[in-house]
Amino acid sequence: MALLDENYTELREMVKKFSNEVVQPLAAKIDEQEEIPKTLISALAENGLLGVYVPEEYGGAGMDYLSYAIVIEELSRNCASTGVFVSAHTSLCVWPILAFGTEEQKKKYLPALASGQKIGCFCLSEPNAGSDAGSLTTYAEDAGDHYILNGVKNWITNGKEADIAIVFAKTRKTDDYKGISAFIVETNSPGFSIIKIEDKLGIKGSSTAQLAFDQVKVPKENLLGPIEKGFKVAMATLDGGRIGIAAQALGIAQGAFDYAKNYTQQRVQFGAPLANLQGIQFMLADMSTKIASSRLLIYDASTRKDQQISFTKQSAQAKLFASEAAMWVTTKAIQLCGGNGYTKEYPVERFFRDAKITEIYEGTSEIQRVVIAAQELKS
Ligand code: CAA
Repeated sequence: MALLDENYTELREMVKKFSNEVVQPLAAKIDEQEEIPKTLISALAENGLLGVYVPEEYGGAGMDYLSYAIVIEELSRNCASTGVFVSAHTSLCVWPILAFGTEEQKKKYLPALASGQKIGCFCLSEPNAGSDAGSLTTYAEDAGDHYILNGVKNWITNGKEADIAIVFAKTRKTDDYKGISAFIVETNSPGFSIIKIEDKLGIKGSSTAQLAFDQVKVPKENLLGPIEKGFKVAMATLDGGRIGIAAQALGIAQGAFDYAKNYTQQRVQFGAPLANLQGIQFMLADMSTKIASSRLLIYDASTRKDQQISFTKQSAQAKLFASEAAMWVTTKAIQLCGGNGYTKEYPVERFFRDAKITEIYEGTSEIQRVVIAAQELKS
């Protein structure tokens, strides 16, 4: 375990207790019923977990990004759907308002988001604009004191629950990212609708929606950040969001490892616990090392963000490494549990299914490599 001062270790103990006592008993049901219960969302809010780094003056817990990463890790150790629900809400909706919002926008939206009264999402991807985010075609037409928004957004985490959406749209028709602006859109606006909810392999409790914006009226004061600087808002938000996904991957890997390690200590074959076999020990050692390496990369990227040191490369490295480690560790966890691990009686198959998405959303592993290489080549 990376060494952290007592503020962080106390926070970890608090969230670990919450995760073990409140989240863990619900995790299998959340996966099966494909929904996070409203009572759990309320409990997350009551414990300050929906506004971890929102300053106290806006109703948040007033902690830092490293604290937030620890929160996502501990929640995801039991339930990755809960982890990404909190992560998309916090990294992708709360953070851009905190970083780019006007004082009026912060006062209007942050207390409601930090208290869980409102849930947030982030709408960048489109049917024909995934990795190539700059090619999006959603358009916001200037109509005097407001914009008229038209377009379709894909793969929107929390799309079913969200009250507040950060939406990226062009305010000038260009083929590249240059005409993109960011907006805060209230989903109770006429013209907003959910087209479909995706049926996914994993993180089944977390909603992934396709959303339509049909002649949605957005007040001028809801422009987020400078006009036509929306791509920078999106990229800066994803820099932080990728730490959240890396922390989710870390939690998944740790949860699967803990379960499989315990299994190898209990399961007796050939007259002794599996863990006595050196071949099994080698596997446990490699899993433990990948988890520890992920944690160091994540805490380093978070600390850089907290200290306002450039962290674009570090967050992409943390996400790349932790997501691939999670996929590897969860595969081995099933292997260690044998046939039992392949059944729904054991949670490792859920960890395995949940791990895969961390290599895809908020930029695939290939996109993380593009970001890392670009940062290396420019330095
Ligand atoms: N911070 C601030 N600005 C940045 C930046 C960063 N990290 N990275 C790039 N920029 C700026 C550049 O400085 C440049 O601005 P100027 O013209 O003023 O210099 C501009 O953005 C364009 O930069 P690039 O030329 O590098 O951009 P690109 O078009 O080549 O794209 C990319 C780069 C890395 C591939 C980017 O498109 C990308 O990250 N794609 C993946 C998108 C993604 O992650 N989508 C997932 C969305 S969220 C999701 O998954 C759903 C969910 O709900 C969880």
